[in-house]
Amino acid sequence: MKFSKSATLAFAATAVAAPSATTKEQPSKRQAGCASAVTLDASTNVFKKYTLHANNFYRAEVEEAVNLLSDSSLASAAAKVADVGSFLWLDTIANIAKFEPAVADVPCNEILGLVIYDLPGRDCAAKASNGELKVGELNRYKKDYIDVIAALLKKHNKTAFALIIEPDSLPNLVTNSDVQACKNSASGYRDGVAYALKTLNLPNVVQYIDAGHGGWLGWDANLKPGAEELAKAYKAAGSPKQFRGFATNVAGWNSWDQSPGEFASASDAKYNSCQNEKTYVQTFGARLKTAGMPNHALVDTGRNGVTGLREEWGNWCNVNGAGFGVRPTANTGLELADAFVWIKPGGESDGTSDSSAVRYDSFCGKPDAFQPSPEAGQWNQEYFEMLLRNANPPF
Ligand SMILES: *[C@@H]1O[C@H](CO)[C@@H](O)[C@H](O)[C@H]1NC(C)=O
Repeated sequence: MKFSKSATLAFAATAVAAPSATTKEQPSKRQAGCASAVTLDASTNVFKKYTLHANNFYRAEVEEAVNLLSDSSLASAAAKVADVGSFLWLDTIANIAKFEPAVADVPCNEILGLVIYDLPGRDCAAKASNGELKVGELNRYKKDYIDVIAALLKKHNKTAFALIIEPDSLPNLVTNSDVQACKNSASGYRDGVAYALKTLNLPNVVQYIDAGHGGWLGWDANLKPGAEELAKAYKAAGSPKQFRGFATNVAGWNSWDQSPGEFASASDAKYNSCQNEKTYVQTFGARLKTAGMPNHALVDTGRNGVTGLREEWGNWCNVNGAGFGVRPTANTGLELADAFVWIKPGGESDGTSDSSAVRYDSFCGKPDAFQPSPEAGQWNQEYFEMLLRNANPPF
């Protein structure tokens, strides 16, 4: 559902970006990490102390996009996007190679956000982001993916990391258990997520597990099974000390606090008391607490600047008319919400609109989806420009 970033552009872009880190323009970015090993206290909101790092992969994508803009005022607005903190997706084994270049310029007062996203049989209820590992390849996931990332996190113990664990995976088990691919994936998802939480439980890390969004697990009937599914993974991992809570709206479109909510007048709204993410964080957070799990949240505000665009909650692909949302901040106004962050890199496609493509998902051909759109993870310049023009607040 989200994306599987093809490595080519990002690697090429990094080769371009790396030298700029050694020029004199950004002296503060030159020193990587702290003087000594970092220990994060996951019983506190670490985003109060650390700023989400603007990673050099997204920076390179944005800088390339800026070069394509002939309108100088749009170009100067676009250039500011490169300085926004966002998460880096380690969504294939090959893309673990992005880790060290990304760590190289993280100052001591910043935290590097990483998305862990490579479960066997990934994206079981959709097609656009099916993963590289097949159902049954759990051992590869553990040894060639999670263990390798764990070793890198240990090696870079002078840098702080925030991890988002496996977007969509457990939510899919809650609501798409009738989909055969999700049935087949279920035990691998559960074991894989627990293994990731346990193995990546390191002092310089805080962990958040993906919990979909208010239009997904926020339905009244999904709250309890959703909370129990997540809590089960947390407990199966041995209740890791560095675990902080959950992530919502990852690559999503929901408003933080629009009231009445975006779909409040829909005929089925009475079955969903979580009509915005703020209510979802509070309502689902309470259920998680009952289920015995830490319950602080990160909320993706990367692309939720404009609402009222989707025909339905569940329309997830390249929503047309979208705009960049609130910039990363720990000032959320809600104690349970640690921070607004950018998780999905705005400008990267959610999935192809080419109906003849193997990974075509019909959601990417809906009337409310931007078309044409390239394969998931590929840069879409027109979409980026639209997000920029519609940014709320503006750049
Ligand atoms: C930090 O990592 C280095 C290796 O990069 C290791 O030698 C050192 O013991 C580690 N320090 C702590 C406190 O874990």
